[in-house]
Amino acid sequence: MKKLENKTAIITGAASGMGKAMAQLFAAEGANVIVADLKQNEIDEVVNAITKSGGKAHGVVCNVANETDIKNMIDTAIAKYNTLDVLVNNAGVMDDFFPVDQVSNELWNRVMSINVNGPFYACRLAVPIMLKQGSGSIINIASIGGLYGSRAGAVYTTSKHALVGLTKNIGFMYAQQGIRCNAIAPGGVNTNIGKGMNPNQFGYGRCTSGMASMPRMGEADEIAKTALFLACNDSSFVNGTVLTADGGWVAY
Ligand SMILES: NC(=O)c1ccc[n+]([C@@H]2O[C@H](COP(=O)([O-])OP(=O)(O)OC[C@H]3O[C@@H](n4cnc5c(N)ncnc54)[C@H](O)[C@@H]3O)[C@@H](O)[C@H]2O)c1
Repeated sequence: MKKLENKTAIITGAASGMGKAMAQLFAAEGANVIVADLKQNEIDEVVNAITKSGGKAHGVVCNVANETDIKNMIDTAIAKYNTLDVLVNNAGVMDDFFPVDQVSNELWNRVMSINVNGPFYACRLAVPIMLKQGSGSIINIASIGGLYGSRAGAVYTTSKHALVGLTKNIGFMYAQQGIRCNAIAPGGVNTNIGKGMNPNQFGYGRCTSGMASMPRMGEADEIAKTALFLACNDSSFVNGTVLTADGGWVAY
């Protein structure tokens, strides 16, 4: 029996990096996957690859910062597959390592709206559906930047700490009603997140001062396997917590 047979999983930011790896792995484990991201052509590539290898997937264009898009994403999942068993709030953006005195309102609002508002909108709509079903697993992709102060700039760090707080609150609130909510805190992972980055030199210098203790970079499929564990019943007693997946970096 596959681990997510007949389960419906929404994954945001699923056209690249960890989200893409999760979409492929969850589909291979029998899930109906909603592939949500910004660009139709990139979404189509992931959906086509999944269906070609015998999996089930459906694409939705969704800017997670837009509440209407999030509603459409959740409605589409229900209309297409009837249930919502797994929600992965994965879409996220970096902040170019800006220290607080140089963070513009625009940068602050952009990062917070994608990294925090998006997961909030999605959780607010997913929870009532999961309550009705009596089951559901929510996975928020945080970061070790959500646990410590020096892995990114001020707003990314704030956003991921906020996501960890949301995770713990949801996990405890609905713990007796069949819903689990956990976060993954990846360390450095080889994805496209750094593409087009234009780092603030001071902030980057401060944040990379601890790089020598990073054992290695991770790969997207290693995070996908961690997410699969949290999505399926293997983690039935794991709730309201943050799982670091960083090769041991923060153990230093
Ligand atoms: N790569 C790392 O080292 C690392 C470390 C810790 C945490 N993370 C987190 O992992 C998550 C996934 O990032 P990744 O590394 O796979 O990056 P990635 O850039 O490869 O993928 C992120 C995806 O999110 C999408 N996205 C961005 N803004 C969006 C929006 N507003 N609405 C919908 N989709 C949007 C992008 O189009 C992209 O497809 C992010 O939340 C990131 O903060 C990454």
